[in-house]
Amino acid sequence: MAEVILIASGKGGTGKTTVTAALACALADEDRRVAAVDCDFGLRNLDIALGLAEQVVFDVGDVLSGRVETERALLRHPEFRGLALLPSTAAAEPFDPARFDALMDELSLGFDYVLLDAPAGIGSGLRAIAPAAERAFLVTTPDTPCLRDSAAAADVLAEARVSDVRLILNRVDRRRLKRKTSWSVDAAMDELGLRLFGLVREDPAVSDAFSAGIPLMRTGCRAAADAAEIAARLCGKRVSNARWVGYY
Ligand SMILES: Nc1ncnc2c1ncn2[C@@H]1O[C@H](COP(=O)(O)OP(=O)(O)OP(=O)(O)O)[C@@H](O)[C@H]1O
Ligand SMILES: [Mg+2]
Repeated sequence: MAEVILIASGKGGTGKTTVTAALACALADEDRRVAAVDCDFGLRNLDIALGLAEQVVFDVGDVLSGRVETERALLRHPEFRGLALLPSTAAAEPFDPARFDALMDELSLGFDYVLLDAPAGIGSGLRAIAPAAERAFLVTTPDTPCLRDSAAAADVLAEARVSDVRLILNRVDRRRLKRKTSWSVDAAMDELGLRLFGLVREDPAVSDAFSAGIPLMRTGCRAAADAAEIAARLCGKRVSNARWVGYY
């Protein structure tokens, strides 16, 4: 049975799609079977982050409406063995929680992890999908507006009874920390009352890869190394904290 992990945020643009795609590829590199589901209905991006934009034929809306079988809609990644994408719909469609639960059950049988790339905000989109997840990663950037919105999102996840909510701090930057224009890891954890699962450094290669439609994990950049570390931790490996001295 798969573990269903929601990748969520309060504020938009914190890096949910980036983290979902990188983690999905990194887990595949760890020989795990991963289904990445783009739940940002109507605003799909995850296919681009995975380098699959040109190959999308069916989407999660086709599956939820019963038009297409799940297996047909799943886009198997040609480079990352074990990774499949269920793309988002091009337009928002009515959402049926029972059908979504059934989809999660079906995916759970064939994969080790199901990663749900959530829409931004704490509205109906997040509330609809959150109950399907056992665990959530709240992707937060270390600035005050984002932390405030993450606190609101954490409340929504608690209401949805997601049992394990952990923080992924994205775009951490040692120079900004030194200049005190960014929150430290400890301060961010204290502010949110959440335990940290991982850190991803600020890295210009992220937007370059996104714009070019190249999976981040094929760039060898430092953000990719950070995502690989998070995947290893998820797989139960011991990970050294050496590179994070100075961030706390
Ligand atoms: N670690 C990083 N370093 C530099 N840029 C980053 C990093 N993470 C994300 N970005 C950039 O931030 C922007 C938003 O990223 P992304 O689309 O992954 O966020 P999102 O939370 O999924 O957004 P939305 O709420 O719109 O779905 C992108 O341009 C991406 O390249
Ligand atoms: Mg996104």
